Parts: sequence; structure tokens; C-alpha cells
Amino acid sequence: MAKRTIVAMPGDGIGKAVLPEAVRVLRAVDFDAEYVHGDIGWEFWCKEGNALPQRTIDLLEKHKIGLFGAITSKPKDKTEAELSPELKGKGFVYYSPIVTMRQHFDLDICMRPCVSFPGNPLNFVRRSRNGQIDEPKINAMIFRQNTECLYAGVEWTNPPKAVRDAFETHPKMKAFKQVAGEDLAISCRIFTRNACRRIVRAAFDYAKTNGFKAVSICEKPNVVRETSGMMLSEAKQIAKDYPGISVWDTNIDAMMMWLTKNPEDYHVIVAGNLFGDIVSDGFAGLVGGLGFACSANVGREVAVFEPTHGSAPKYEKLTPSIVNPIAMILSACMMLDHLGENAKAEKIRSAVAAVVADGKVRTYDMMRLTGGPDVFKLGAANTTQITDAIIAKL
Ligand code: NAI
Ligand code: MG
Repeated sequence: MAKRTIVAMPGDGIGKAVLPEAVRVLRAVDFDAEYVHGDIGWEFWCKEGNALPQRTIDLLEKHKIGLFGAITSKPKDKTEAELSPELKGKGFVYYSPIVTMRQHFDLDICMRPCVSFPGNPLNFVRRSRNGQIDEPKINAMIFRQNTECLYAGVEWTNPPKAVRDAFETHPKMKAFKQVAGEDLAISCRIFTRNACRRIVRAAFDYAKTNGFKAVSICEKPNVVRETSGMMLSEAKQIAKDYPGISVWDTNIDAMMMWLTKNPEDYHVIVAGNLFGDIVSDGFAGLVGGLGFACSANVGREVAVFEPTHGSAPKYEKLTPSIVNPIAMILSACMMLDHLGENAKAEKIRSAVAAVVADGKVRTYDMMRLTGGPDVFKLGAANTTQITDAIIAKL
């Protein structure tokens, strides 16, 4: 395989602690790559009025593959206040660099695996019929449409007259006719047929490759008839190309209930942006939470791999760092899979599994401790130590 160039974007806070650990692991499995640094995050909003500078977009455009840590975003008042004085009042507007990156490169397919590692004290357990504790093996991949739905950003408080008039052509708007403009907020849930097809097909391909017999469409087509209905009808159509794989139509609310009862029954789940966000966080909570939740954002040309956690600002100043790098390391494994380096990805996952199963080296979250500088006294490993343990197992 030709040498790759990876755009490494640590971002803010603990992103700076976990990303270098993932690169160490990639080097340890001899992944043939070089890494170029990409600026992203709050620092660049403050200094340049842009959290995702054009030079970083150019790097991604050129090299196609990004590894990303996490960014910090802050409420509106702080956004203005922390902008450098010379940029204030010049019309700079803060946009989330992640959302911008997803939209700019049309990274429409988000994959979030939720796989339990045996021996992880954070795994989901339940009481079985005979009163014993039962720990099912969870292995689900959530396919979340990443660019549309309620996150498309088409929304208003006090919608302009033309918008309100257009909405009022719908009979159901009668119920809101008397509401004053400033008391009315509208956020649009937008689905397109092409995007539905792409996310559904990605899920079916995954099911086929991995031998799963069903794909769950996790929407709400009985109530949200147009958007969820489009996703479901496209899924039923696409299913015809995949003999032996059936479509399960599971409403999002029911899904959240089922995952607290029988999460092991679900392997491939597809949802729009909002429901996909919810169901993937729910599943992540069953397999170790934020320290284990990895993800891929995949478009036609560019793909970016990132842990789902944020920058955890309350821990960013702790040295050594206390946070769990596993979510970032597993995100790097998804990058290897994407690049066809599946054997290397599997090797790393096995090493992570071995460290988790051994239980000798654990970060504070795996010990259910409250984060802070005291965790080391209580036996927690730091970010580098657990990475060292993973590398030792390779
Ligand atoms: P967060 O994910 O940064 O942290 C929540 C809590 O989860 C932390 O305080 C910590 O207790 C725990 N945690 C997170 N990552 C961990 C790890 N690797 N190991 C161990 N424990 C970990 O979410 P929060 O506090 O809501 O947001 C903090 C900042 O991050 C905000 O500015 C937010 O906008 C941003 N954010 C960025 C995301 C991204 O870059 N993709 C995603 C979510 C939030
Ligand atoms: Mg989320």
C-alpha cells in the first residue's frame, strides 16, 4: 500500500492529549504514513475569527483522510467576548468547525460502532431470569445520516413573513396561527432521497460483509410520515438488492427501550441525524461510554475519524492527562479499515481487548472514579500508560 498522508487535527482540550497517543499506536503497527498538522478549534476562532481555517480545508482536500481529536465550542456571549480585540465587531460569526467540515466535504455517512470488550467494568449488565448477572456481548454499528435532518440549520425564531406565509399554506399550521412571531421557533427536518439511499446502502453493505441478517431502520414513520417515511421506503426498496437481509422497522422511542433490555439483538442500525445521534449515544453508554465511543465521518472523497467525546475542558490542564485514549485509538482503527488495512486495525483492537480483559491498567473512567488529579493515588493509569499497555500487547 502506498504511503499515506494523514491530516492530524488534535483541536482543543483533551483532543491534544489523545490524538498523539493514537498516532503512537499507528506507528507501533507499522502503518506506513506521515502526519501533517491541521489547525482547528477555539484557539483559531479567537486568533483568526475562524475555527476551521481555509489552510486546514486545503490539507483535507489534498490528502483526503483526517484524524481529529475534539474541539471546544462555547455559548454565544463567550464567543464574542473571547475574539481578539482587533477582530471584534468585524462581522465574524462562529460556526462549529465539525459541522462545517461535515457539510463542506459532504461527510454524509457517520458510522459509530458500539462493541463491548469483555472485562470492561462499564459494560451493560442485567439480572437474568434465575437472578444471576448476565453480561451480553454487544456488537452494533450505527449508521447516522450526518448532514441533514434537524441539523441542516434551516431554522428561525420569529420567521420572516415570506417563510411564515409559506408555512401557513399547510393546514396543520392553523394551530399556530395566533402565536406571535417572537414566540414562534421553527427548525426544519430535511431529508433528501439521495442521502437516504446512501446511508441505507452503506448499512446494507456492512450487513452483507459482516454476515448480519437484518438492518434496523430506527425512525418514526408512523408519525413523522414524510421524512422518516422516505427513509423507510428507500430501505425497503434497497433491501431487494440484498437477499437474505431483512428490514426491521423499529421506532426510535421503542429502540431506546429495547437497547436497555436486549441490546445484543441489534447489529446494524440506520437513522437520520438527530435519531442517529441519540441512539448512538445510548448504545455507547452500554459499552463503556465516552472513553470508548469512536466514529467515522465518510464522504465520497474525504473521510474524518474522531472519538465522539468533546474536549473535556475540566481535564485539559491536568498533567499527566487522566483521560481514556481508547475512543481515539479505536477511531484510528476505523481509519485503517477505511484504507483497507483491516489486519492492522484488528491487531490494535485485539490489543485493546487484551488490556481491558487484563484489567491491570485502567484509566479513571474505567474505575468509575470522579475525574481529577487524585485518581492516580487511587490506582488509575494516565493516558500515556494505558497506551503503553496497548502497544505492549501488539
Ligand atoms: P465532553 O465529551 O468533552 O466531556 C464530558 C465528560 O465526559 C467529561 O467531563 C469527562 O468526564 C468525560 N469524558 C469525555 N471524554 C473522555 C475520555 N476520553 N476519557 C475519560 N472521560 C472522558 O463533553 P462536554 O463536557 O459536554 O463538552 C465539552 C466541550 O467539548 C464543549 O465545548 C463542547 O462544545 C465540546 N464538544 C466537542 C465535541 C467534538 O469535538 N466532537 C463533541 C462534544 C462536545
Ligand atoms: Mg452526540
